[in-house]
Amino acid sequence: MSEVNSRFKIAKSFGSASASYDISARLQRYCGKHLMPWLPNRNDLTALDLGAGTGFFTDLLASRYQQVLGLDISKNMLRFAKENRNEAITWLEADAYKIPLQDNSIDFVYSNLMIQWCDPLDLVLDEVMRVLKPGGLFVFSTLVDGTLFELKSAWAQVDDDQHVIDFKPEQDIRPLFDGNDRKLLNSKQQDIVLEYDSVLHLAHELKSLGANHVPKKQGKGLAGKDKWQKMTKSYQDFLEPSGIYPATYKVFSGLIVKLNH
Ligand SMILES: C[S@@+](CC[C@H](N)C(=O)[O-])C[C@H]1O[C@@H](n2cnc3c(N)ncnc32)[C@H](O)[C@@H]1O
Repeated sequence: MSEVNSRFKIAKSFGSASASYDISARLQRYCGKHLMPWLPNRNDLTALDLGAGTGFFTDLLASRYQQVLGLDISKNMLRFAKENRNEAITWLEADAYKIPLQDNSIDFVYSNLMIQWCDPLDLVLDEVMRVLKPGGLFVFSTLVDGTLFELKSAWAQVDDDQHVIDFKPEQDIRPLFDGNDRKLLNSKQQDIVLEYDSVLHLAHELKSLGANHVPKKQGKGLAGKDKWQKMTKSYQDFLEPSGIYPATYKVFSGLIVKLNH
């Protein structure tokens, strides 16, 4: 599948989830809030929320900063955002690989749980550096390898198909955050374990987040009932004594500065 085609599918998958998204977005809320201490103190700034989704954090940024733009590839996400968020926000329907903004025009870019969808990642980072002013900041969170390992391992006992998106290992993406034009000032890695009362609950949450699109999946559509049952049985290996099904999310957050030269 071409990269553009794949991005179109990601947009569609997120778009169909825009209405249910805010209810299920426990992980997004948690990660997005943890980025707040890295935001600049001055408020006469122009900020871009890259992969803004339903605009929950774009709205928060708009309450603090002079000019705020929210960019997303999904029309439906943006429709929801336009209807529900601060009217002063400028919304851009665009691809993070081709940000429709001038060079050196933005004071800081905020991006919560979006860049894990970007492959190749280096081109998106170059694009972020292009639009940032020298000295500008890129504040982001993403998911790395090990995320949803319980689900991956449960499916691995059923077939060889890919049922869970491939998250890149932290050591593969780290080198991209330092370079001639950029420096990683701060970073952290956290394991967030969310609790589910059933595997179906986890599957529903992933679906309502639009995060169920798997680029390399071979078989089309839903897995057969038998396979699904086998997988849920395998997931029992992780069942906690309290009857809760855990799912681990490995979150990497970073603060990058665009260097002055
Ligand atoms: C997990 S959601 C996070 C949304 C929001 N940042 C939040 O914290 O609630 C990821 C968002 O990234 C968007 N997205 C994925 N790939 C994109 C791309 N190449 N360009 C722009 N947006 C993209 C999706 O449409 C989706 O709205």
